[in-house]
Amino acid sequence: MTLQHVTAAAKAIKGGKLVAFPTETVYGLGADATNQEAVSNIFRIKGRPQINPLIVHVNDIEQAQEIGIFNSDALKLAKTLWPGPLTLVLPLAHNHNIAQSVTAGLNTVAIRISAHIIARELIMKANTPIAAPSANPSGYISATSAKHVIHNFDNADILILDDLEQSNILGLESTIIDCSNQNLVLLRSGMIIQEQLESITGKNIKSYVPTSKPLAPGMFQSHYAPEVTLKININDNINSNNSVVINFGNSKLSGALNMNLSISGNLHETAKNLYAMLRLADEYAIYHNINQILIAPIPKIDIGIAINDRLQRAAIKIGN
Ligand code: TXA
Ligand code: MG
Repeated sequence: MTLQHVTAAAKAIKGGKLVAFPTETVYGLGADATNQEAVSNIFRIKGRPQINPLIVHVNDIEQAQEIGIFNSDALKLAKTLWPGPLTLVLPLAHNHNIAQSVTAGLNTVAIRISAHIIARELIMKANTPIAAPSANPSGYISATSAKHVIHNFDNADILILDDLEQSNILGLESTIIDCSNQNLVLLRSGMIIQEQLESITGKNIKSYVPTSKPLAPGMFQSHYAPEVTLKININDNINSNNSVVINFGNSKLSGALNMNLSISGNLHETAKNLYAMLRLADEYAIYHNINQILIAPIPKIDIGIAINDRLQRAAIKIGN
């Protein structure tokens, strides 16, 4: 990765093209957020429903304030946690120039400042806010490497920026908090945990409870899902040749292919490995005609809450 690549990618963004780029959470599939046609291409290439709004990535709080209206809670959170894996949902600012499909016609907008150097350089050089969902086909496992993006969007007209230092990727999508009302609502858990948000704002924060009519379509219950059936929280000592198994710590599942998210039981290592292992498990299972992936329990503490949230959604299949 050289900065020259970023310069070319910034030009491509300005020219209405799509660029996949690393952020500190997962890879994003970006377009100029002010360019309606470019943004439409994101929805088309991902197969994403038009009703599911995108996150706008910016470079500083001033740029964010041109797009969203910050109340005092939002400002405290932004000043403390940005750049970082946090997305704020805010009322849309009056004279914003964000393309309508970015917000799916809502009167709120999701904004974040990524801590990843390549994301920052790209936005700065393109000199425009960048709308970017995670760089995966809608509903499938998110991408945590350039290889994943290439695998999913082989023939698409996308420029891909590689992050040669994979160590920069945390592995779970940003925490999303709705700050558009006095009552703060945690819409998606992530590496920034509820307790952190509560101590910064001094408020109790409710977690969003999914209903059959979701607040935002991305809160749909099935998401991040492999093609093969995924079963979670498996704590028997299963030995099954018809399974790919993913262990955690000293769990002892055994199958046709055995992986471990973190032998030492470390949740950060687990987050970093999660999507790559799910993808590998899925590909292996499909190739070898294996019909299930089994995952050992992950503790529901700290960032384990976000890991379990993703696993639960990944285990739900539309139509099953
Ligand atoms: O870490 C991340 O957030 C990554 C990187 C690339 O930034 N992006 C990401 O985007 O995860 P995506 O599109 O996969 O997830 C964004 C979520 C969706 O569930 C969407 O429905 C929700 O944010 N969202 C976007 N705008 C919203 C709004 N105005 N109100 C509520 N939810 C919103
Ligand atoms: Mg996504």
